[in-house]
Amino acid sequence: MAIISSKKQPQEPNGQPQQRLESAPAPANENILQPEAAADEQGKQEESIRPQRFADYIGQKDLKDVLDIAIKAAKSRGEVLDHLLLYGPPGLGKTTMAMILASEMGVNYKITSAPALERPRDIVGLLVNLKPGDILFVDEIHRLSRMTEEILYPAMEDYRLDITIGKGSSARIRSLPLSKFTLVGATTRVGALTSPLRDRFGLVQKLRFYEVDELSKIVLRSAEFLKTPIAEDGATEIARRSRGTPRIANRLLKRVRDYAEVKSSGEITESVAAEALQLFQVDPCGLDWTDRRMLSVIIEQFNGGPVGLETIAAATGEDTQTIEEVYEPYLMQIGYLSRTPRGRTATTAAYKHLGFKPPNEQLSLL
Ligand code: ADE
Repeated sequence: MAIISSKKQPQEPNGQPQQRLESAPAPANENILQPEAAADEQGKQEESIRPQRFADYIGQKDLKDVLDIAIKAAKSRGEVLDHLLLYGPPGLGKTTMAMILASEMGVNYKITSAPALERPRDIVGLLVNLKPGDILFVDEIHRLSRMTEEILYPAMEDYRLDITIGKGSSARIRSLPLSKFTLVGATTRVGALTSPLRDRFGLVQKLRFYEVDELSKIVLRSAEFLKTPIAEDGATEIARRSRGTPRIANRLLKRVRDYAEVKSSGEITESVAAEALQLFQVDPCGLDWTDRRMLSVIIEQFNGGPVGLETIAAATGEDTQTIEEVYEPYLMQIGYLSRTPRGRTATTAAYKHLGFKPPNEQLSLL
């Protein structure tokens, strides 16, 4: 299946997407949802937590400014938006941003992921069905196969599909026109893209980790959707431990909500959030068991490094890709890890955070 998700933007006369109208028979007891209804309700909650417009999207100001200009310019010229490459660590809102772009442009979107585009016909099927202005979102775009990538080049550049008919010396290329569309590619590894593909994006934009005050606002907004009572300091406590990442903040919010409902009055306060997150082994800086294990392996077994990625992977049981794409970016961001040509090293701040004596202090004691 090539398409993971697709959506038509229902348009109101003023160009705003319509509210979904739903009518369903009320369950016998309004407080008890049947399993299917509960799953449905959860799905709706997840969808409504995701911001739908720029105005609701908290953080990433520079990116929003750039995209706002691109949207206004494209709209005023009556053109489609330039192809856009979004990169950055997972969970920062790349997919959400693509959906918002579609909503702001008033166009439809299709969401897929490179591993779902294994065969050339997967991407061909998607491309030929695009309508003018549509947004095609391809997640993990660095994982496209060579053949799929080569189909994309003329599609991106000239809105043209080149199909080879026949084999060997009798092979012919037929070109089919495509609707003008916007490709939004997302990747956690921009360096892994081939340069011909990267060069075909008119806009290349990075998503950054969020500040604590931004994540706090996101947590407060999500708690409102979840109808969970929360104090501002409770939201800040969750935000502080969310590794600068909205997806993690929303996940922790749900775990803390469970804890607050079972162990206390249901309201998320600073102390309830701190107790819950301690139980889930998320420390005050947001580090989890694997982060701490990675750092302590470097410190205890390799004198603080430098040590190679493969060695860290073997010692922690994580694969190298997850370490590089998920764990390391945040550890480097908070200054606990540095990458050198000879390997990874733990910083003085990491020693202190884990309760080890930093090497320079050990020397001065001798
Ligand atoms: N939920 C997840 N990410 C968000 C963001 N950037 N703004 C508002 N709500 C969000």
